[in-house]
Amino acid sequence: MYINFDEKKGYLSSKILEYQEVVDSAHEALHAKTGKGNDFLGWIDWPEKYDKEEFVEILKHAKKVKADADVLVVCGIGGSYLGARAAIEMINGLYPKGQVEIMYLGNTLSSTYIVQALDYLADKNFYVNVISKSGQTTETAMAFRLLKQLLKSKHQENYKDYIIATTDPKNGTLRAEVNDVGYKSFSIPADIGGRFSVTTAVGLFPLAVAGISIEEVMRGALTAYKELDNPDLNVNPAYQYAVARRIMEKQGKSVEMLVSYEFQMTMFAEWWKQLFGESEGKEGRGILPTSVNFSTDLHSMGQFIQEGSKNLFETLIAVEEPMEDMIFPIDEEDKDNMNYLSGKSLDYVNTQARLGTLAAHYDEGSVPNLIITIPDTSAYTFGYLTYFFFKSIAMSAYLINVNPFNQPGVEVYKRNMFKLLGKI
Ligand code: PA5
Repeated sequence: MYINFDEKKGYLSSKILEYQEVVDSAHEALHAKTGKGNDFLGWIDWPEKYDKEEFVEILKHAKKVKADADVLVVCGIGGSYLGARAAIEMINGLYPKGQVEIMYLGNTLSSTYIVQALDYLADKNFYVNVISKSGQTTETAMAFRLLKQLLKSKHQENYKDYIIATTDPKNGTLRAEVNDVGYKSFSIPADIGGRFSVTTAVGLFPLAVAGISIEEVMRGALTAYKELDNPDLNVNPAYQYAVARRIMEKQGKSVEMLVSYEFQMTMFAEWWKQLFGESEGKEGRGILPTSVNFSTDLHSMGQFIQEGSKNLFETLIAVEEPMEDMIFPIDEEDKDNMNYLSGKSLDYVNTQARLGTLAAHYDEGSVPNLIITIPDTSAYTFGYLTYFFFKSIAMSAYLINVNPFNQPGVEVYKRNMFKLLGKI
């Protein structure tokens, strides 16, 4: 397997295998598309069946934008935002050189954020990729109108050349606007929900503009699709992880903390939180997904994890090869007493922090650790890892008989907000 699942000390292995029968039937329901939410299972075989013509068009148009733009504004929220940002930061790092700057709007109602972002864009040559499956999400639609006005003030009637819309192929307000105005557009397949859409045009167009090989992303997703289409709990790490979560829950662990030692994985954790929280947290069920970034958060959350309530377990994403590394230098004066690290690589130090923390949390703090090891933070790995988590959460939710593909609870805040704003 390209990525590996483990639990420290292997104490769960035999318990995991006890779930084989239920996993077999959930796997069958997923792949035969007969289980709960089966009209949103388009992601299952997407790595093989994705629209190749649209893919070529994405590459072509991204090349054009890349050559011309200072900034690409990704205007979307939730599943129409987090995946692209997670990918761009994981794959390019946080200070990429020589790439088009990617900004995010339509993901908040904060007036300060919106006004500052518009102000920042005023003298930039920017394009907008507005992404909304429904085409009527308030945050996104508000920001899009403001961005359109800014584009109109810069380019008059040519403003539409600076807009790329990614939306439902047929329905919704945004698709109607595309048909009316004639923006360049891409489609979000009807049977793929927002949080499962990162390897559709939703993620692929911004990634391509950010200089990422979307061919590699799809190659990674395809490998995952093939490798993980196997219900056998002896070999399928996505299902091992899914079952391990359920065992944790039975042992009273109601909180899962996704741990990474790479800053560039912070937004990946946000993407994962949405995927897991929105898919599983319903009908009074589900494990609360949270995240930390070590060693940074060891200086803030470390105390709680070590000695606080014992209701959590950690899921560590361990990266084998960092994107960058360097040797820590010697200093003849050694006034800071740091020469004991001279000649060691920065990643060596990070790895020792990880090993030391695992021992502290698991052995001394009795906090169980599930470990997902990935070779690197490449585009290929991103494609694989996202599919891995799709498969894990679908299985996890089916194991508690929850439909992973809807989000009825999200409507409640919208209803109240629309009432207060006089929309309904
Ligand atoms: O996963 C989901 O379905 C949601 O997070 C949506 O992606 C999010 O609410 C944005 O919706 P839309 O793409 O319709 O604007």
